[in-house]
Formats: sequence, structure tokens, C-alpha cells
Amino acid sequence: MQLSKDLIQNLNEQLNRELYAQYFYLVIASYFFEKDLDGFGEFFLKQSQEEGEHAMRLFHYLMEKGAPFHPLPLEIPPKNYESPLSCFQTAREYEEKISLSYYNLLKKARDLGEFDVEEFLWWYIREQREEEALMETWIARLSHAGNDPAALLLLDKEARKLAKASDS
Ligand code: FEO
Repeated sequence: MQLSKDLIQNLNEQLNRELYAQYFYLVIASYFFEKDLDGFGEFFLKQSQEEGEHAMRLFHYLMEKGAPFHPLPLEIPPKNYESPLSCFQTAREYEEKISLSYYNLLKKARDLGEFDVEEFLWWYIREQREEEALMETWIARLSHAGNDPAALLLLDKEARKLAKASDS
């Protein structure tokens, strides 16, 4: 069954949001590398790579459905952050925004009786839940660490371990 024009547009917009997330996390990774907090840098590089994979999943779905890919402009992500904590807070805010856009799209697909699209979107709903929880965990850890440099370095080490573990 062919997708409606409206849903094709929405799926292309989701793809653009995922590409933005990829770009955004690359900027955050650079913030950490520039501060010699390479563990967090690796963590955000890994997140960036995953966001690219999320975009590709949407791309392949459009192709599978014989629907066109519409290139859309990418916004420039913010570059200046006050602290490691604010990086994670900004990331969490963006993840919440993406989650909301998936909820809205899933509701629309369901209302239109587009069950194939609905089924496709559930993967993203679960993925968003995991990503929001992950950001939340790091926000809590960094809040506990406060302004203690030793605690920050310890967390940086943990972040590197996590990035490496999800590579294997
Ligand atoms: Fe793929 Fe974190 O949105």
C-alpha cells in the first residue's frame, strides 16, 4: 500500500530530526574533546553514530515503500555550553522533543489506519525511552559530582567504558 503524501512528508521530517541529532551530538562531542574529557567525547560520538543509524532506518523504510526522500535543510546546533551537565540537559531536552514528534506521528498513522507505519514507528518509541533514560542517568551522576574535578574525571572514565562497550 502506498503512503499518503502527508505521511511521506512527516517521515522525511523525522529523518531530518535524526540527522540533526547526529550533527548536534557531534558538536557536543567536540565540546568534550576540546576540554580533554575524551571519555564523554567518545560517548557523544557513539550517540552521534547511532542517530545517523536512526536516520538510515527511516531512509530505507521510505525506499522500501517506494516513497521519495526529500532533502531538508539542517539547522546549526548550538556550540557553547556552560558545563558538562548543561550538555546532557540540552541533549535530554532534544530527545524529549524527538519523542514527542514520534508520539504525534504514531497517533496520526493510527488515526489514518496506516498500521504498517505504526508498526515501523514502535521501534523508535522504544529507542527514545532508552535514550531519555540514558541522558537522565548521566544528568543525575553529574549533578552528584557537582564541581568536584576528581568525580568528573571518574565519570569521564565511565563514559569511555560505556562508549567502548556499546561498540562491541
Ligand atoms: Fe534518534 Fe535520539 O533520536
